[in-house]
Amino acid sequence: MTTFRSVGLLNVLQGVRLRWPPVACLVMAAPSSLRDKNLCILRAILAGWMLAAIVAASPLMGQSPNYGVGRSPTPEEIKSWDISIGPDGKELPPGEGRAIEGKEVYTRRCADCHGSKGQGGAQGEALVGGEGTLDSTQPVKTVGSYWPYATTLWDYINRAMPFDSPGSLTHKQVYALVAYLLYLNGIIEEEEVLNAQTLPQVRMPNREGFVPDPRPDVGTKDQSQMH
Ligand code: HEC
Repeated sequence: MTTFRSVGLLNVLQGVRLRWPPVACLVMAAPSSLRDKNLCILRAILAGWMLAAIVAASPLMGQSPNYGVGRSPTPEEIKSWDISIGPDGKELPPGEGRAIEGKEVYTRRCADCHGSKGQGGAQGEALVGGEGTLDSTQPVKTVGSYWPYATTLWDYINRAMPFDSPGSLTHKQVYALVAYLLYLNGIIEEEEVLNAQTLPQVRMPNREGFVPDPRPDVGTKDQSQMH
């Protein structure tokens, strides 16, 4: 039964391709028989119905599909995901911290991987030192030697560290950790308070070490500096 039906459908489709519109059947150059001609017209009419059904359904198909899964995020959810802090630090949240508080958090949550004083360990790279090595054959890229902004260091720690439990630090702890790492690198004093106002003012040693990339495929807004 199934086979018979699908063959029938094939024939109808063939009718659409070869013999549409019905008029084509009437002017068939040499109709082999009346039966052939009648079959042809029947197929063409059926094909017409199918076409009409598709056209009638098309406004429905034009609507965006609704699969019954998912929902629009709430404004609160969007806010909780929108955590990017740019170089100028204008998105920095309230809160503040100092190196002395950062040292306590660091020892508990970071030292296992990055070493007790940020010197690096088996599971985490060095965060301290490396000044003057960037143009050598073995550059040591750390917070102190490489990072151009202190604000994006805040962003990175807030979003990605500790490696095994990202997103678990409070804003205060992140300020304190940044203060501790900058202090270990000799960039700020031990007593300095970092917050949304003071952090963007910290000048990182490698601030001018980045230049626009002149390769056309990576693109840069400011190639003029390269000439
Ligand atoms: C389980 C091990 C682990 C722990 C714990 C951990 N880190 Fe990391 N950290 C890593 C690894 C691995 C990377 C490199 C990640 C990458 O390149 O994607 C990294 C990268 C970093 C970097 C970027 C270094 C650079 O110059 O690229 C910073 C800064 C950092 N960690 C800070 C911290 C701080 C602060 C803590 C504690 C709150 C912490 N980490 C805890 C493993 C760890």
